[in-house]
Amino acid sequence: MRNAHITGVGRYVPPKLVTNRDLTACMDTSDEWIQQRTGIQQRYYSEDSVGAADMGVLAAREALERAGVRADQVDCIIFATLSPDVDMPSSACLLQAQLNIGGVPAFDVRNQCSGFLYSLATANAFIKAGRFARVLVVGGEVHSTGIDLTTRGRDVAVIFGDGAAAALVEPVDDPRKGILTTHLHAEGKYAEKLWLECAAARERPRLTEAMVAGAAPRVFPRMEGRYVFKHAVQRFTEVINEALAAAGCTAADLDLLIPHQANLRISQLVALGFDLPEEKVLNNIQRYGNTTAASIGLALYEAIETGRVRDGSLLCLAAFGAGFTWASLLIRW
Ligand code: ACO
Repeated sequence: MRNAHITGVGRYVPPKLVTNRDLTACMDTSDEWIQQRTGIQQRYYSEDSVGAADMGVLAAREALERAGVRADQVDCIIFATLSPDVDMPSSACLLQAQLNIGGVPAFDVRNQCSGFLYSLATANAFIKAGRFARVLVVGGEVHSTGIDLTTRGRDVAVIFGDGAAAALVEPVDDPRKGILTTHLHAEGKYAEKLWLECAAARERPRLTEAMVAGAAPRVFPRMEGRYVFKHAVQRFTEVINEALAAAGCTAADLDLLIPHQANLRISQLVALGFDLPEEKVLNNIQRYGNTTAASIGLALYEAIETGRVRDGSLLCLAAFGAGFTWASLLIRW
């Protein structure tokens, strides 16, 4: 049974830069509040009518190019998103059509901030079982069409950004390399702590006054921020420990921790608990905000680009998000 490994990564960052100061034009907030509470300085919003798959396909093409693999060699597409382009069909199917590779299986994973890791873990299982040889994992999100950009929605709206990332997963001959261990969890009883009952898609829906009336309209994401924050720190810590134990490692063995970019303060607290110095933790939420299913892919891309991942590096990828769901992976690069 061969290990699976990430052989190419890609990303797409939409062109519309939105700073914290820009947000003060539509809601009562401040650059200082956002930076102090979350670390975020800016995020990007997609252009009108551009969906998660439209961005994801650009990230996917880059990942394939870097892996030296043609689109028609891909065996399976897994698309992680909480903001699919349309209610149906899946964004994976829309992306498959854009790659022009009809016939291969394509499906969405709807697991929010943990979606990219759930998808990598699924790709890993497919490859280890010998079912597929080249699995394309994509994470893409368009939050900007679905958030409440008024003072009422400011606690959630300032956090999120749009973007996409992709990873090609293939078998690797060296048994010491690749994805070493995967850990997935969910606890649905906390669903209402962070949820969106009536979602938007690539188009911002036409909202009537009745739909947006009241203190917390169902058409926008709602979150009990402090509750989510505490759970996030606890679950990140647990699931990282779980991965380290499964691989017989300690935190000191890690070369890089890549946490889902939920909040800089969450990442810093988790890192502190493991006594990890700043250079061993990848944080880029300052520039992208929380891009949910795209965030770990965007961070991994940056880690590779900036030389923070080298041959032999031991990486821990960890996520926590709505559901609640949480997950971790250890990868020997
Ligand atoms: N600008 C200014 N003031 C604000 C803003 C804003 N954008 N948002 C909220 N406030 C105000 C509140 O109204 C409140 O005012 P009050 O004291 O007068 O009532 C005050 O700031 C404090 O609000 P809190 O919500 O208690 O602020 P907190 O310190 O908890 O920070 C935050 C909020 C940043 C959302 C934090 O709770 C958090 O990051 N939570 C976790 C988010 C997360 O990890 N989500 C999971 C991943 S996302 C996913 O899975 C889809």
